[in-house]
Amino acid sequence: MEVQPNDVDNIVDRWRGDRSYLIEMLQDVQEQFHYIPKEVAEKLSSDLDVPLTHIFHITTFYKGFTLEPRGKYPISVCTGTACHVKGGARILENVMRELNVSREGEATPDGLFSVESVRCLGCCGLAPVVTVGDDVYGRTSSTKVNRLIKRIKGKER
Ligand code: FES
Repeated sequence: MEVQPNDVDNIVDRWRGDRSYLIEMLQDVQEQFHYIPKEVAEKLSSDLDVPLTHIFHITTFYKGFTLEPRGKYPISVCTGTACHVKGGARILENVMRELNVSREGEATPDGLFSVESVRCLGCCGLAPVVTVGDDVYGRTSSTKVNRLIKRIKGKER
């Protein structure tokens, strides 16, 4: 998604231009673009009179922000201890192969998916666990995740 001239204005207005809501504004940016585009960070910096280094500090500190595009459907594969024991690392490897991405966080060329590993999603009893966006899939497998990817691709066509 390309950044339109008034995208940042709309987000800043939503938070009444109050820079104490910078994190909330960045969350809105992340949700809208699936990452924090450099030009948006620069505009926020000048509009809110906040140093650009401060914005980059926030975006690199919190795992929820990325500086490169994530897929529309970000996939997180848990590789915490309980999930690792039940094959989490293998699922991660298989999903990356299925999507043909060589690096965690890299978006697929169609912009639909990105994959990354996470440490314990807090529902170890459901291991192995994978999330796609906000949806949680427990006791899953590479086959089930691949099926889900195919279903999403079909829906997006
Ligand atoms: S280790 Fe995967 S949910 Fe806890």
